[in-house]
Amino acid sequence: MKNNIPDFIYGTAWKKEGTTNLVKLALQSGFRAIDSANQMKHYSEVLVGEALLASGIAREKIWLQSKFTSIDGQDHRLPYDPKANLATQVAQSFASSLKNLHTDYLDSYLLHGPYNYPLLGEEDVEVWAAIEELYESGKAKMIGISNTNLKQLEMLFESSSIKPHFVQNRCYANRDWDEGVRNFCQENQIHYQGFSLLTANPQIVQSLAVADLAEKYRVEPAQIIFRFSQQIGIIPLTGTSDEEHMKADLAISDFELLSEEVRLIKKL
Ligand SMILES: NC(=O)c1ccc[n+]([C@@H]2O[C@H](COP(=O)([O-])OP(=O)(O)OC[C@H]3O[C@@H](n4cnc5c(N)ncnc54)[C@H](OP(=O)(O)O)[C@@H]3O)[C@@H](O)[C@H]2O)c1
Repeated sequence: MKNNIPDFIYGTAWKKEGTTNLVKLALQSGFRAIDSANQMKHYSEVLVGEALLASGIAREKIWLQSKFTSIDGQDHRLPYDPKANLATQVAQSFASSLKNLHTDYLDSYLLHGPYNYPLLGEEDVEVWAAIEELYESGKAKMIGISNTNLKQLEMLFESSSIKPHFVQNRCYANRDWDEGVRNFCQENQIHYQGFSLLTANPQIVQSLAVADLAEKYRVEPAQIIFRFSQQIGIIPLTGTSDEEHMKADLAISDFELLSEEVRLIKKL
């Protein structure tokens, strides 16, 4: 963690009733940055909160992120009144996240995904203004957007008074690891978080070139991918359920790929 920007984030999606134990295990293994969302379809934020309490680790030692999810991304379990206007929905969802996570602030709060595609629309502008208010209140220390394309990010950057601090996107190797969005982020001091680094890229993870590098550095192919991602400016997310993988993922700071090795993986 440098200047309150994490270098690896533990993601809590899809763990259902296993969430409490897995988040506790991740914290015991050394993770200090946790990603959640107030979206009961995929996340059990209440159980993330239970794990945080049970860990006994002081709040200020943990970097916590959650998300506002639009009605389209939810099932029947909503953290807000669907009849309320969007600004109220954001305020209600955020307040519910604070309660779930037993805290009075979040280190980062994201719009889970734009309402409109391929460009932003009215709803996105309205929701972003509500997220900016959370930032201005001091309750969300940083704000950002997830699942955005380059055009949407450019529009948000142009139209907003508070610029996004984070982007969180899925990274496909066959789309140059989201290079267009990453470059825009780098040029505009936006920190880029990448997910599905392993699951979206099985051919790369299982490639001979990555196996050779794993052998050279005496690590697993997954660690090569995570280290590669950090070296090209991505903050990786992992949601592993395996204690050994948790430790291995955090141990990637023990080695550094050569620049030609980074170029080689980019070309795969
Ligand atoms: N913003 C969004 O819309 C969005 C969407 C998807 C995900 N996310 C976030 O990103 C987090 C991570 O999700 P993900 O899609 O990247 O997938 P993931 O849930 O982290 O899955 C990784 C898969 O790779 C396997 N694996 C093998 N070796 C591994 C190693 N050394 N380290 C880690 N995993 C290893 C894992 O198995 P084992 O469990 O056996 O290790 C698991 O099956 C989520 O929990 C969520 O917080 C956000």
